[in-house]
Amino acid sequence: MVVIGASDGRLVLPLAAAGHRVIAIERDPIALQGGLVELPDGTKAHATGLIERLRQEQLDDRVDVVEADFLDADLPITGQYDAVWTSSSWHYSANHHWRLADFVTRMQDLVRVHGLFGAEFMMPVTARQHLSEHYTSPERLSPHFSKGWNIQLTLRTGQFTERPHIGQPHPHVHRMGALLATRTSSATTERA
Ligand SMILES: C[S@@+](CC[C@H](N)C(=O)[O-])C[C@H]1O[C@@H](n2cnc3c(N)ncnc32)[C@H](O)[C@@H]1O
Repeated sequence: MVVIGASDGRLVLPLAAAGHRVIAIERDPIALQGGLVELPDGTKAHATGLIERLRQEQLDDRVDVVEADFLDADLPITGQYDAVWTSSSWHYSANHHWRLADFVTRMQDLVRVHGLFGAEFMMPVTARQHLSEHYTSPERLSPHFSKGWNIQLTLRTGQFTERPHIGQPHPHVHRMGALLATRTSSATTERA
């Protein structure tokens, strides 16, 4: 399976521990290799990266870590996979010079027939987010899954406040969505 935006391994580590082979794609070198990060109180701390965490758990032989931007890198991965997942990656500003559809179709292209596409994503809360297609919703995504796909599940939360964390020193409001779809044929929805 493939995890796009793997960060330091919240999803990759349990998948590998469960016996899956995983390709972990991440553009942030600190998430992969570790380094100094600023905590919400302004102090600095060392964060362990995905590569070291995999080594500590003796899972490194099951995971191929790819340090690359999923959208513009010439990825060293080919073929079609059982499952492709991304979690809260689409809204990152680095992706805004691409259409969200480019991210979605690039993910879809990696999924084998009967395989699973999964995404958890930020939905819009603020006026600025409502103007950005990168804060999306199950309804806005569903046209991308009209041909060759079967949407199995969509979820959405209400607004909730998240506590400060690395990269975000203040409490902040989110609304999340999720979509799971299985590929039913190699036919794809027409690309815009
Ligand atoms: C909020 S984190 C989620 C990480 C992890 N999946 C989790 O659930 O804890 C999103 C990650 O996606 C990465 N990301 C966003 N756009 C990306 C892209 N185009 N290519 C690779 N990684 C990307 C970010 O660098 C960030 O580490």
